[in-house]
Amino acid sequence: MSESAETPSSEVLAIDGPAGAGKSTIARRVADRLGWAYLDTGAMYRAVTREALDRGLEPGDAAAVAALASDLDLVLAPDGRVTVGGADVTARLRSPEVTEAVSTVAAIPAVRDVMVRHQRRFARENGRIVAEGRDIGTVVFPDARVKVWLDADPEERARRRLAETARAPGSDPADLQAMKARLERRDRLDSTRAVAPLKPADDARRINTTAMTPDEVVEAVLTTVQSALST
Ligand code: DC
Repeated sequence: MSESAETPSSEVLAIDGPAGAGKSTIARRVADRLGWAYLDTGAMYRAVTREALDRGLEPGDAAAVAALASDLDLVLAPDGRVTVGGADVTARLRSPEVTEAVSTVAAIPAVRDVMVRHQRRFARENGRIVAEGRDIGTVVFPDARVKVWLDADPEERARRRLAETARAPGSDPADLQAMKARLERRDRLDSTRAVAPLKPADDARRINTTAMTPDEVVEAVLTTVQSALST
């Protein structure tokens, strides 16, 4: 029996995929439609990174960042808000400096151990969850009832991310090619790390969202959930 059997009564929809594939938008909307809690695991790695940078730690200092992660009073609300030590940090997680450093922090095995424990506890406490990330269907909840892998062509992913960051305060409106290069760098770091790399679970339904509207992707994911739950 795998470790995720510690959540016997949970129902998990796992949504994984590379940066900019639309995971957050789709996961939030699907969670709303199903009435399930939403778990943004990327926000957790970002919260650790934010706190490390605020404290002047080097993101690559594995021992210091791991110690920080295990002491951090990190709370994920079912609506996606993140608090650290009671302070809402949600709006501070998507800055360029956090985005630049987060893959380094997420590659630290001891940080991942702490985050995975938080994620499984979230499932136990909330029962039915939509969890999005990079390793949800492979490592965190390998027994999830439904697994979806969202992807899109690199150019389209860069276009989507650019549209988001251009609205975020403090972000440089970088051009498409620069954004594409940054996404590719992050995907490379995420998919080549030793622990829990970015990759689809064998039993995930793969959806290429390049030519799809968010509404169409939401419907495709809901159809997958309905057919999985009715079997
Ligand atoms: O989805 P995002 O861009 O907010 O994720 C931020 C980073 O966190 C991403 O570069 C990889 C890492 N991450 C991870 O390693 N495992 C997860 N389950 C979620 C995110």
